[in-house]
This record gives sequence, C-alpha cells and structure tokens, in this order.
Amino acid sequence: MIFETSRRERLQMKKERMSRTIAIANQKGGVGKSTTTINLAACLAEKNRKVLVIDSDPQGNTTSGFGVDKNAVELTIYEALISDVKVEDCIVKNVIKNVDILPSNVDLSAAEIELIGVKDKEFILEEKTRDIRNNYDYILIDCPPSLSLLTVNAMTTADSVLVPIQCEYYALEGLSQLIHTVNLVRERLNDKLDIEGIVFTMYDSRTNLSQQVVENVKQHLGDDIYTTIIPRSIRLAEAPSYGQPITVYDAKSSGAEAYRKLAKAVEG
Ligand SMILES: Nc1ncnc2c1ncn2[C@@H]1O[C@H](COP(=O)(O)OP(=O)(O)OP(=O)(O)O)[C@@H](O)[C@H]1O
Ligand SMILES: [Mg+2]
Repeated sequence: MIFETSRRERLQMKKERMSRTIAIANQKGGVGKSTTTINLAACLAEKNRKVLVIDSDPQGNTTSGFGVDKNAVELTIYEALISDVKVEDCIVKNVIKNVDILPSNVDLSAAEIELIGVKDKEFILEEKTRDIRNNYDYILIDCPPSLSLLTVNAMTTADSVLVPIQCEYYALEGLSQLIHTVNLVRERLNDKLDIEGIVFTMYDSRTNLSQQVVENVKQHLGDDIYTTIIPRSIRLAEAPSYGQPITVYDAKSSGAEAYRKLAKAVEG
C-alpha cells in the first residue's frame, strides 16, 4: 500500500547494507517502545550481532532498563546533539555483551527548544552518528511518545521504522498519523525510510479484543509488513526494575522467546 518495492526487493536491499538503523516509534505513550528496544537489542546481541541502542527519549527508560543510572551519566545524547562533544565519548560500552548505549535523561527535554533555528536540525542525529554507525550491525533508536523533532531526527537517521502497537481498544488511533509522518519524512527528508514491521505488544490470548486488534491492523496495513506478537508477561514488566533485559532476567520465559522471534523476523 505504501511501498514502491516488493518485500523481496526490500529484504535484498537490507542484506546488502553493512549496518541497519531501526527507529522504534509510536506517538502513543506506554505501548511498549522501550521494552521492545531493550529486548530486541538483547536478542540480536545473543545472535552475536553488535548493537548500538540510542535512547532518544528524555524519560530515559531504555537507559535505566539496561542498568545504567541515568542521573549519574555525565555525557548523554543531549550533549551529543547540542554541543561539540563527540558521540563516541557519550556512549556507554557493553551494558551487556554486544550492546552499547547512547544514554538519555531529562536533560534531553531541553533539546527541542535549544535546536530552534539551528540549520538542518532534522539531521543532527544522522550527522553525529554517521561515522560510527558502520561499527555496528544494528542501531536501534527508542523514540519518545510524540511526533517531535527527536522522532524526526530518529526517522532521518533510520533505514526503517518498527511500530509497537498495544493490543487494546484504541490501538488503531494514531496509526494513520504515524504512517503519514513516515511518508512525509520519506518524501521530504529520507527517501530510504521503510516500515520495518509491527510488533503487537501485551497480547492476551484469552481476550477477543487482542485478536481483533491484530486482525484490524493487518487489514489496515496489508500483508506486505511482517507482524510479531509479544504476549503480556509479568516477567517482561519486572525486568527493567532490575536493570536487565529479559534474556538476562529470565532467559527461558515466554517474553524472551517472543523477542527472539522478533529478532529473527528483523534479520529477515
Ligand atoms: N509484553 C508486556 N507485558 C507486560 N507488560 C509490558 C509488556 N510490554 C511493556 N510492558 C509494560 O508496559 C509499560 C509501558 O511499556 P514501555 O515503557 O515499553 O512503553 P513505551 O511505549 O516505551 O512508553 P513511553 O511512551 O512512555 O516511552 C511498562 O510498565 C512496561 O513494563
Ligand atoms: Mg519508552
């Protein structure tokens, strides 16, 4: 519906790329963006892929979800975006094996205002990370719950957007707006931007509602986009309070298995 190339062609293009950058975005709050970023990164890392996680949300949930004390880090994505500090100097290495993180905290909430009037402010993250992206197999960018300048920066840096959708009644609300934004960014700022796929989060197989949401979204988007289902799981909800991804907190849980399937789908 929104692609000019077939899924096969797009997969081939993906495989030829040295490194892939995926923005995890949905302007709705609390749908599982950070949970997906953390655990997809961990599952790709398990497959020996080298992953950089960019936390682009002032809430810093992905930063703390990897056990990094967001209030103690001195250099964050904020410094990388608004000053001459090199992005390498802001990265925390090996938060788990094969995963580095560019952390974030509440300081980032000022960036939006501070970047007003700055030339090419939609491309700052892209420019700052250009020289290091090929050091990684995957770069995952966790976006804030808004279609703000930070999200646009993530989309100009990314090759694709992965959209977590919570299996609840209002799931479809805002999805058209998100797709419209992806299309606008593709037309005007980043012609390679693709929709990576949909992750249905907090799926409860006991309810009809969860199944209906999955059906509705699939009808809405067509078959060309892969979808993965992540069950509602207490273990997934608990893991961040221990600063651990699910692969460390409970490697054999259903949540860990579900995110491994997502990693497999992402690898194509
Ligand atoms: N599959 C799941 N099962 C149970 N709880 C989950 C699951 N996925 C996420 N959660 C919980 O739901 C809440 C919201 O998840 P998360 O923080 O990942 O969403 P988000 O989209 O990043 O939120 P925000 O928009 O605020 O950044 C968290 O408390 C998280 O632990
Ligand atoms: Mg989040």
